Amino acid sequence: MPEIASRHHLELIIQVVDEALREATVELSEIDAIAVAYGPGLVGALLVGVSAAKGIAWASGKPLIGVNHIEGHIAANYIGHSELGSNYICLVVSGGHSHIVKVTDRVNFEVMGRTRDDAAGEAFDKIARALGLGYPGGPLIDKAAKAGNPEAVKFPRVNFGGGSLDFSFSGVKTAVINHIHTLEQKHEEINVSDIAASFQTAVVDVLTDYTIKAAQQSEIKNIAIAGGVASNSLLRSEMTRKAKKFGIVVTFPEPVFCTDNAAMIAIAGYYKFANDSFAGLELNAVPNLKLFER
Ligand code: KG4
Ligand code: ZN
Repeated sequence: MPEIASRHHLELIIQVVDEALREATVELSEIDAIAVAYGPGLVGALLVGVSAAKGIAWASGKPLIGVNHIEGHIAANYIGHSELGSNYICLVVSGGHSHIVKVTDRVNFEVMGRTRDDAAGEAFDKIARALGLGYPGGPLIDKAAKAGNPEAVKFPRVNFGGGSLDFSFSGVKTAVINHIHTLEQKHEEINVSDIAASFQTAVVDVLTDYTIKAAQQSEIKNIAIAGGVASNSLLRSEMTRKAKKFGIVVTFPEPVFCTDNAAMIAIAGYYKFANDSFAGLELNAVPNLKLFER
């Protein structure tokens, strides 16, 4: 048995889990396995989760399952869309990631495109700060944009050419920040709603066009969206509207399952459980875990 934590820490962990389960409607005896996100992410947060999961697994004798956080975001789609399972394109857009993924089945994936610089959510957060809206920026931009004109300012949409499905959001971010600075220098009015709507449309145009292109290239008729940015109202409506023209069906999780949550890790863990994909008690946090690295 590897050294996983001191007896005192284990007792604390079990006490916390015990209290949490008392609030919930599920008993530890009803749980078959313990799934935990071990990367990518901030090392401190990952270590807390991994240590707790290892403590529970060891103390209860239940198997341990390590889940990639991004795979968790994708799996959030199965809550409410159990028909989705194989052969679809998933756009994963969060604060740290922007990927176009071909999902072969629930445990096998192929990355078709990724951001070469900022993640989409990161761009939303930075522009919200530049507009004085606060944090997290995504929902605030989404709200402000509803009162704005999406055609007020034409911000750039980067295209790497050569059939690449990679994104870049640093160009649009810089263009928006330069636009705000120019208005400030000229003492002109800054219309927050117009800028928010124009920025959001530029990002959503690229996300939707590239995801649909990936689906067409792969002759796939289903698209899912995942991650915090999947809550964005324009992304949801535009993806649905544009994809419909090509006979492509679009699904996305309820907003509560788009942002980081435990249920998505449990669902991804369930499919790894069904696939006999278990971790040992030597499982460690991997802050820079690659997408779908095994
Ligand atoms: O998936 P998530 O909760 O955490 C990470 O794994 O990063 O994503 C958080 C990101 C933040 O950047 C936040 O601004 C963005 O998701 N977000 C949104 C919306 N709601 C959250 N971005 C655009 N529109 C939204 N409605
Ligand atoms: Zn996340």
